[in-house]
Amino acid sequence: MIFLENNIHHGGDIEQVATQLNIPIEEVKDFSANINPLGFPSDLWNVLVQSFANIEVYPNPEYPELKTAIANHFHVNNDDVFVGNGASEVLDETIQAEKATDALVLAPTFGEYERFFSRIGIKVHYYQLHEENNFLCDIPTMIEQLKAHREITIICLASPNNPTGQIIASKDLRKLVDFCNHHHRLLILDEAFIDLTVNEQESFINELEPEDNVYIIRAATKFFAIPGLRLGYCITKNEKLKKLLKVQENTWSVNGIADVFGQNMFRAKKYIRLTHDWLNTQQPALYQALQGISEIKVFPSATNFFLFKSNDLTLREKMIRHHLLIRQCDDYVGLGSQYYRVAVKGPQDNVLLVKTLKQVLGRESG
Ligand SMILES: Cc1ncc(COP(=O)(O)O)c(C=O)c1O
Repeated sequence: MIFLENNIHHGGDIEQVATQLNIPIEEVKDFSANINPLGFPSDLWNVLVQSFANIEVYPNPEYPELKTAIANHFHVNNDDVFVGNGASEVLDETIQAEKATDALVLAPTFGEYERFFSRIGIKVHYYQLHEENNFLCDIPTMIEQLKAHREITIICLASPNNPTGQIIASKDLRKLVDFCNHHHRLLILDEAFIDLTVNEQESFINELEPEDNVYIIRAATKFFAIPGLRLGYCITKNEKLKKLLKVQENTWSVNGIADVFGQNMFRAKKYIRLTHDWLNTQQPALYQALQGISEIKVFPSATNFFLFKSNDLTLREKMIRHHLLIRQCDDYVGLGSQYYRVAVKGPQDNVLLVKTLKQVLGRESG
């Protein structure tokens, strides 16, 4: 696993697994990273190859064309858009933009938030999600927690949340945002997976108002399968937040190739449609198949991964022996070794995942 300093780890460590098993990397089926299985959009290869000519020049640090492409796509102004080296970098910059002592994150959630807050001395509080409630985030209860803790001035939420896959409805987000606007709190809303939701759920970008104390974070990484190229962006309409974020922006953080990719990504219409077709069929099919495995409890999800629970604490290791990599969730605050996350992949791979899980778990209990 890829371990970071505070012991969070991430999926996608297929290299290590391939070495461990002494097999070629292509033989490892990676269900641990939630990346579009359609792979890089082939229509954009030419554009990408042409962009290699750019490597001898600095990108324009204002990224005007990239910002225009993103702004046009979301019907916002160019100066509402900020870009970075993956969603992680823009997230980190928004976290540093606001001077705060205390922040609120979900438990469980993506571990990088806590790492970003902690390393600049911001104390992290948790809003505990509950398994009985399928890890749904109840905004009225969260607002009560915020009222009782005036010291918490930043709230960082993911919708869909990783690893639970649940989204927060726009009307609930509006309640939270109104509370933030009236009580001097900042909401950082991570929508890294919103474009990978079944029947593509609406982004809160469509609801944003200039007075909203909100940064919305988006990733090109997951949808366009470019974790190695990396591109993320942030949208806010709030002038004060824009000024604060400008101060934190790293210069030339998007490389020349990712810059050109981003200028063209929304033109890959066929790829975008095929991605939605894949997700809208494969996600519910995998959910149903996982529900059919009596030894596990799978939780509902709106996006391209599922969290499930199993009494077998060595399931990851056993699946690796079958060359399948799944994500054990032992490092998530609020979860433990009995929780696992799997990505939705293509039909054959999904069938193989379910078959192997049944085989491994059936053998154990039998
Ligand atoms: C919820 C969430 N936000 C952001 C990221 C980081 O995305 P990127 O690779 O674009 O930095 C991840 C990566 O797994 C994630 O799960």
